Amino acid sequence: MSAIESVLVENRVFPPPPAAVDGARIAGMPAYEALCKEAERDFEGFWARQARENVQWTRPFTRTLDESNAPFYKWFDDGELNASANCLDRHVGTPVENKTAIVFESDDGQVTNVTYKDLLARVSRFANALKAQGIRKGDRVIIYMPMTVEGVVAMQACARIGATHSVVFGGFSAKALNERIIDAGAVAVITANYQMRGGKELPLKAIVDEGIGMGGCDTLKTVLVFMRTPTRCEMVAGRDKTFDEVLKGQPDQCAPVPVNAEHPLFILYTSGSTGKPKGVQHSTGGYLLWAKLTMDWTFDIRPKDVFWCTADIGWITGHTYVAYGPLAAGATQVMFEGIPTFPHAGRFWQMIEKHKVTVFYTAPTAIRSLIKASETDEKVHPKNWDLSSLRILGSVGEPINPEAWMWYHRNVGNERCPIMDTFWQTETGGHVITPLPGATPLVPGSCTLPLPGIMAAIVDETGKDIPNGSGGMLVIKRPWPSMIRTIWGDPERFRKSYFPEELGGKTYLAGDGAVRDAKTTYFRITGRIDDVLNVSGHRLGTMEIESALVSKTDLVAEAAVVGRPDDLTGEAICAFVVLKRPRPTGEEAKQIATELRNWVAKEIGPIAKPKDIRFGDNLPKTRSGKIMRRLLRSIAKGEAITQDTSTLENPAILEQLAERL
Ligand code: PRX
Repeated sequence: MSAIESVLVENRVFPPPPAAVDGARIAGMPAYEALCKEAERDFEGFWARQARENVQWTRPFTRTLDESNAPFYKWFDDGELNASANCLDRHVGTPVENKTAIVFESDDGQVTNVTYKDLLARVSRFANALKAQGIRKGDRVIIYMPMTVEGVVAMQACARIGATHSVVFGGFSAKALNERIIDAGAVAVITANYQMRGGKELPLKAIVDEGIGMGGCDTLKTVLVFMRTPTRCEMVAGRDKTFDEVLKGQPDQCAPVPVNAEHPLFILYTSGSTGKPKGVQHSTGGYLLWAKLTMDWTFDIRPKDVFWCTADIGWITGHTYVAYGPLAAGATQVMFEGIPTFPHAGRFWQMIEKHKVTVFYTAPTAIRSLIKASETDEKVHPKNWDLSSLRILGSVGEPINPEAWMWYHRNVGNERCPIMDTFWQTETGGHVITPLPGATPLVPGSCTLPLPGIMAAIVDETGKDIPNGSGGMLVIKRPWPSMIRTIWGDPERFRKSYFPEELGGKTYLAGDGAVRDAKTTYFRITGRIDDVLNVSGHRLGTMEIESALVSKTDLVAEAAVVGRPDDLTGEAICAFVVLKRPRPTGEEAKQIATELRNWVAKEIGPIAKPKDIRFGDNLPKTRSGKIMRRLLRSIAKGEAITQDTSTLENPAILEQLAERL
């Protein structure tokens, strides 16, 4: 075996610690295997049982799975429920009622506790306010909010009245917001005047105004503004109202509206391999089941736990493991408005100590940046805080490299806490391949095994199973309750993207490469196999960034974007650009690169700014005019070109593009 291969093979195995096995819902591998067998033996019976035990139905379902219009699967589709009632009302009259639901810590460190009872009252009042604005079941509402309790209240209030929310991450641009308002046909935007991040007051409402000002938002009638800070913002008479105005006089009781299990709870836009983001549509019943079930399975959540998922509500992780899952499970959760490095890079560890967090769930990119910070400044190393409250750790969003895994294990988990490396996607709604804390022996860098009932496999382009030990495409062969239902307004794209004909039209194609270990049969995700990048756990399409670049029509003639590995951000964006003027060099090239970066930030958001920009007189193309991306990937990595370049129209261009600014 070559040296390169041997570092990829991870031999360390960490059995579940006895404390995690003790009293666990799924204790030991035989218990996990029994659930898997149950699902295989009686697939529908298994899911029907889970749905009955974990979800409160206002009208019980009699059909579990309808495959008649596959891949447009329906789950529990003659049942009715309300997602908000399943997160809040279900706890009324139980000991959870007076328990803290959310421990909110603001950017500047102020702490507010909200009990389940308070939260129910706040959600109900806000739901009444939405109704008073004429917002009804089935309407779409855009939420462009900071990480605040009000953000969760807005989401829950939409769910309560059956309105479909679409949360847009507060870091996305006016243009991105405009496109989402139009695509969703939204009737309202819920936003804040400003957001606080790292001690800075950043505008949100002004970006909403700019986005709406770009035109086309014909369905939009109302903008509701949460005054997060005392700073005033522009208000358009008749259209814009503050939270205070609309909440005034609203009662704090509001009957939850029962909806069909398949009713769209939310749409969340995510990047795909073409320029236009996809509106991933999720259901109410299957999604809610998953949010609750995975809190129980993956985090084995217990009554005294303090759960903290650091994800923003603008991403799927913040939907399932902040806005819905912890509440459905009746857990106490920490919600954090700020960033991990303010006022210092020990903030996460300090907060774990302060709030006695027991289950901590974050992203590899955060871990890697905090490792780096603690290497240069001892004072922010986790050892400076008491982290003994922790019992389970989690990782999400990108592959976690074994080095980061080991650091997390030693320095945060004190070698006591199992790490749940949860693999999933916006489309899957919640975890699909993940260890279980009381059962699965862990291998650093591996998301281990599928959850019971998830029929994950690795196949080749024709859909044939690939033997363990070899890489291929990750698929899920049977539907599952929390899967994406469609792409909002584009069912054909849904079918083509996820259920390609080549795989028979009924197998879910994840878009990731993976390999199963020959001995353990564990899955290891090797990264996206399509034109999607994962930068600091944020998902971005190369075509999306290319479209943004070429939309600078006065300057850019052509652009190609690829990813390259980056120690800190996982992947980094590398753009190759041909200008409409002679190829710049030196200072001029640097200046233009800065101009282009800012342009992309305006078009999509700062997270999409290319790290490297290189200029050429042309791009490497085949004689038929196709851009040879594999060559660009090699150049971006700084590798020597060993590939066959004989089909290349213009080989001299390679040297030019290899030049760094
Ligand atoms: O490439 C995989 C990576 O993130 C992609 C999904 O991104 P998104 O829809 O934004 O959802 C992120 C949060 C669930 C996947 O296709 N990914 C996610 N989790 C892991 C991962 N890659 C490896 N290991 C993981 N645990």
